[in-house]
Amino acid sequence: MEPGRLEELYDWLRIPSISTGGGEAKDLQDAAEFAAEIVRRAGGEAELVTIDGGNPLVIGELRANSENAPTVIIYGHYDVQGPGPLDAWQSAPFEPEVRGERLYARGAADDKGNFFPLLAAACDLFQSGELAVNVRVVIEGEEEAGGESVAAWVKADQRGADCAIVFDSAMEDAETPAITIGLRGCVSTMITVTAQPRDLHSGLYGGSVQNALHVLQRVLAPLLPDGEGNLREELRAGVEPPSAAELESWQQLRPGQEMLDEVGATPLSENSGPDFRRRNGAEPSFEVNWIEGGAARTVVPAEARAFVTLRLAPGQDPGAIEAELERLLRSEVPAGVSIEIESHTATPSLFAADLPAIEIARKAIDHASGMNTALIRSGGSIPVVADFAAAGIPVIVSGFGLADDEIHAPNESFTVTNLDLGERCARELLLALAALPTD
Ligand code: BES
Ligand code: MN
Ligand code: MN
Repeated sequence: MEPGRLEELYDWLRIPSISTGGGEAKDLQDAAEFAAEIVRRAGGEAELVTIDGGNPLVIGELRANSENAPTVIIYGHYDVQGPGPLDAWQSAPFEPEVRGERLYARGAADDKGNFFPLLAAACDLFQSGELAVNVRVVIEGEEEAGGESVAAWVKADQRGADCAIVFDSAMEDAETPAITIGLRGCVSTMITVTAQPRDLHSGLYGGSVQNALHVLQRVLAPLLPDGEGNLREELRAGVEPPSAAELESWQQLRPGQEMLDEVGATPLSENSGPDFRRRNGAEPSFEVNWIEGGAARTVVPAEARAFVTLRLAPGQDPGAIEAELERLLRSEVPAGVSIEIESHTATPSLFAADLPAIEIARKAIDHASGMNTALIRSGGSIPVVADFAAAGIPVIVSGFGLADDEIHAPNESFTVTNLDLGERCARELLLALAALPTD
């Protein structure tokens, strides 16, 4: 990557644009404005759009060098997760630092550093007069927080696009670029159980009164997966089994066992490794993320809270599953105890491997990388992808993250050479999309 471009990325990473709590509105605004300036400096247009008091969207345009060219949206997110415990970071999260082969910073991989090569490639092609597709730039600041701004923008947008490119995903491995054709959706839920007005002495009242932590455990128990990781049928409603061809294609990928071993995980069962691709890409999963309650020994806690996520497989309807989840939670609450449930949803997505945009992308990335591009599913979620799909826009989800980037965790990093790889692939991809049918 050209040194000036690299400096731009470092400066972008220095802005602590945290959307998940504890961030400053000014920093989100600055990170958005910074991206808009990159587009303007290349000679394009860009503005910040705020919807319903949300974090600003960067909406920009780099026009093609000819009439009747296809229109391509490029998407990334400038918001980041909070850094978590600072003493767990080897270098400050918002002071980018290269150590060995990696660039360390919050956002280095998710998503500023992953998306930046795509933005840079579009700007460079425009400046040199080689851009043969209309590029519309859409960069949001609420992806990590489950915000609605970009969904509202996509829904209201009259112009649409012939396809979108999202750089917010990972490679299959260091030698295998990937197009992520499937993403899971998500119902994320905060549960608050209130059993009494205040904590009570466990000696004086224990055995006679409701305990919020006990109720919370009973409420959660029916949702837990069985020993194989299977969820109850009500929560599997809508799951679309993968085709024989797709199942077959997964055999060519790295064994699931290896993917569990490389992070030192303890598998649920003997099948978790061999069946990893199907479970991760084509089944829902339920996780209790954290539980809180009780402040001292020998009390009966009055209140308890849990945060849970239910990942949804392609085919599942987030609204229907959310309603079912709430029904199951409420059904276990004893009389007199109150439960408060607050959920956010994201819709799953799946694209056919033979869509023209996917086929063009696969060839372009093969060619630019000199490697074989895999079509994969990810168990993660990128909510906007389903919004584009609902607007009739096929989406090329890709990116050059790797499993050890530690996204969302301390010491997040991105492989420095993948900035160049991403830029080369993005460049060829944008050039190749000139051949996309525009009907
Ligand atoms: N970029 C990630 C999701 C991702 C990571 C997809 C790696 C594919 C490969 C994204 O920023 C993310 O963290 N998404 C959240 C969405 C949630 C807040 C609705 C997730 O998956 O938890
Ligand atoms: Mn991301
Ligand atoms: Mn993320």
